[in-house]
Amino acid sequence: MVDYTLSDYHERSKHRVNRYAPGPGQLDWANQPNPFRYYEGSTRIELPLLADVLETDYSALRCGRLPAPHLLSLQSIAILFELSLGISAWKVYGNTSWALRCNPSSGNLHPTEGYLGTAGVRGLPAGVYHYVSGDHSLERRGEWDAPVEFRGLILGLASIAWREAWKYGMRAFRYCQHDCGHAIAAVSYAASALGWRARLLAAPGDVEVAALLGLDRDVASAESEAPDCLLSVSVSELGLAKLPPTPTRWHGEANSLSYDHVEWPDIERMHRLSGKPHLYRKPTDPVSVSHETAGKPARNLPAAQIFRQRRSAVAFDGSTTISADAFFAMLDATLPRSDVPPWCTWPWVAEVHLAIFVHRVDGLDPGLYVLVRNPDAVAPLKASLRSDLLWHKIGPPELPLYLLVASDLRDAARLISCHQDIAADSCYALGMLAHYKIAVNKPWRYRVLYWECGMLGQVLYLEAEAAGIRATGIGCFFDDEMHALLGLRGHVWQSLYHFTAGGAVDDARLTTLPGYAFAESRSASSS
Ligand SMILES: Cc1cc2nc3c(=O)[nH]c(=O)nc-3n(C[C@H](O)[C@H](O)[C@H](O)COP(=O)(O)O)c2cc1C
Repeated sequence: MVDYTLSDYHERSKHRVNRYAPGPGQLDWANQPNPFRYYEGSTRIELPLLADVLETDYSALRCGRLPAPHLLSLQSIAILFELSLGISAWKVYGNTSWALRCNPSSGNLHPTEGYLGTAGVRGLPAGVYHYVSGDHSLERRGEWDAPVEFRGLILGLASIAWREAWKYGMRAFRYCQHDCGHAIAAVSYAASALGWRARLLAAPGDVEVAALLGLDRDVASAESEAPDCLLSVSVSELGLAKLPPTPTRWHGEANSLSYDHVEWPDIERMHRLSGKPHLYRKPTDPVSVSHETAGKPARNLPAAQIFRQRRSAVAFDGSTTISADAFFAMLDATLPRSDVPPWCTWPWVAEVHLAIFVHRVDGLDPGLYVLVRNPDAVAPLKASLRSDLLWHKIGPPELPLYLLVASDLRDAARLISCHQDIAADSCYALGMLAHYKIAVNKPWRYRVLYWECGMLGQVLYLEAEAAGIRATGIGCFFDDEMHALLGLRGHVWQSLYHFTAGGAVDDARLTTLPGYAFAESRSASSS
């Protein structure tokens, strides 16, 4: 297709009430992609399992009270990965078992791969490493022939779209970006729990990310990985790590994840169209909220526990309620603060707002609310949404939350979420309204909008756990039904991700095992 545009993809990948976005039809189970990538032939370094020793409380972290920085060591790097991209549990049903990770993923397909560039760490030769969550190890992919000046940590993320496309077809490109956002936030939280700061580097373009992570090499026979982003981790006095040079020697060959592949040309086009260029201008600093974090979570648990107990609810009880204060506290955690994870990691201005269906919040009318995360967006949103909305300010004075419609909207929320009951039986469901217009002329920003949505999702997942309820990301929604409800026309605002949280009903048929049950001896021997 000549002149393929962002809106071609966006429209074609929308689910509609009378027609879902093009997908594979039925699932070819024999061809299901391997959830773990390995670089065969590379040197493997087993990481110790030490996250249990971390004393940081989640309630301190969510207010930006970080512990004293841990020393940069193989041990602390191991904790960083264990609590961000590591396996958090195994689920067992009959003869089938599957791994869950600290970072959620649409359909549990986990397209996101993690990388590390480091030098100057005892026990870890300088180089670029690939993280294998399956056995919590690092594979040494790249090294430099001569000593490099670079010191510190650079984390890299990349996506294997085929893992998502196998199940979801064309819409998979969106899900890869959501998942990347969840992973960015997971890294940000884990780094902060170690007293470190992670910062997403706005400048590097895709070509530089691919070159540094070795994504532009050696994948001829295997599924390619699309570069996502680099995060610089500031470890005590070292400050933010500068980018290392591209390694001069590479090791290992990527494993093939499936024996066969289905081509999704729209995804290929999107990879090209939304490629991120190098940015020479520093982005405008995000507006940081100045007020203290509102409210406390109901439970004060270790951050490591919250990160690893995070799960998606598969059903809600339709009766659990939360207090208005707990609800306000969760929303407050989504506001951009330059000193609080995960927003301390985010270099861009907030461009995504929450349109919330409140179902079961004590003291709040059921109805439609909006949380405007950037004060500059209030007027444009008012101008774009239906003209008969109330816009009544609700909650603590500093929380930019407005009641738009007081009404029971459970049926609407269920319908919009592809008829999923989780959107109606919960305490709340929401759609993430993104300033889509900014991506029309700069399609790389389309990916960034989804990353911001994924980060919001990660905040809300963790906040739900801390409040004693549970959440679920919703990638399956009828885009234009949501827009119609809000009275949105055209392509200025688009809802890019949905979400819900409530009182979870567990599936009693499943058994849960710890993430690295088979490797427990490693923690004892390395501590
Ligand atoms: C981007 C995204 C979209 C998702 N969409 C749905 C959805 O539409 N319906 C649903 O029941 N779960 C959805 N989930 C939840 C995933 O299925 C879940 O994260 C995955 O199975 C892994 O389980 P865990 O979150 O408990 O680790 C979504 C998760 C993500 C991150």
